[in-house]
Amino acid sequence: MDGNGRWAAKRGLPRVAGHRAGAEAVRTTVRAAAEAGVEVLTLYAFSSENWRRSDEEVSDLTALMRFYLDREIATLERDGVRLEFIGEPAAFGSDLAARMQRATERTRHNRKIILVIALNYGSRAEIAGAARRLAEKVADGEMTVDAIDELTIERELQTSRWPDLDLLIRTSGEVRLSNFLLWQAAYAELIFLDTLWPDFDATALGDALGQYTARQRRFGGR
Ligand code: FPP
Repeated sequence: MDGNGRWAAKRGLPRVAGHRAGAEAVRTTVRAAAEAGVEVLTLYAFSSENWRRSDEEVSDLTALMRFYLDREIATLERDGVRLEFIGEPAAFGSDLAARMQRATERTRHNRKIILVIALNYGSRAEIAGAARRLAEKVADGEMTVDAIDELTIERELQTSRWPDLDLLIRTSGEVRLSNFLLWQAAYAELIFLDTLWPDFDATALGDALGQYTARQRRFGGR
């Protein structure tokens, strides 16, 4: 969800105003994705590298996330959204972590769409964690080295309950994956947009889904 800061700067507003507008774009996008029949929508809200930002910005983002969780939970319930988190959200403190857990539990039965928020997430750290757990299983005699394959690695990833990524959209003109779902994006279609995240809306999502549908996916075949 890139471009919140630039969106704010263009209007002479503080960065936090861009993040607030970004949170509005989250609401719109979740609803539009559910209506379009998207099964799982993962939003990269905070990378493990984002701690390099100023203390003020990190605390603004934490407050915004707390506010979003408190205010949106009823809407998520009404719209059939199941909320999940990946990454290491505990780093945001016990208060936010408790709210996240409550939101996850409260929305567990929802079936319309799964909204996954990646918070303090880094794909390499996720893969390293999977490798560590497999090594432990081998050391404990629970599995053999030969049994380690793509499937067993996949099962240790935080995304193991959900299908592989089909479409990855990055906003704001950046053309990089920036440590997001590297394993899961192996065969994903990539769409890079100049649109700044706060300007992303149902039309932008519809366009991206249209492009995705028009592409021929070959998964390495012909
Ligand atoms: C990147 O834009 C955006 C972020 C690091 C934060 C994204 C967070 C939200 C949209 C807030 C709410 C989230 C949820 C899930 C409710 P940037 O700050 O890097 O923008 P820039 O590249 O223009 O500086």
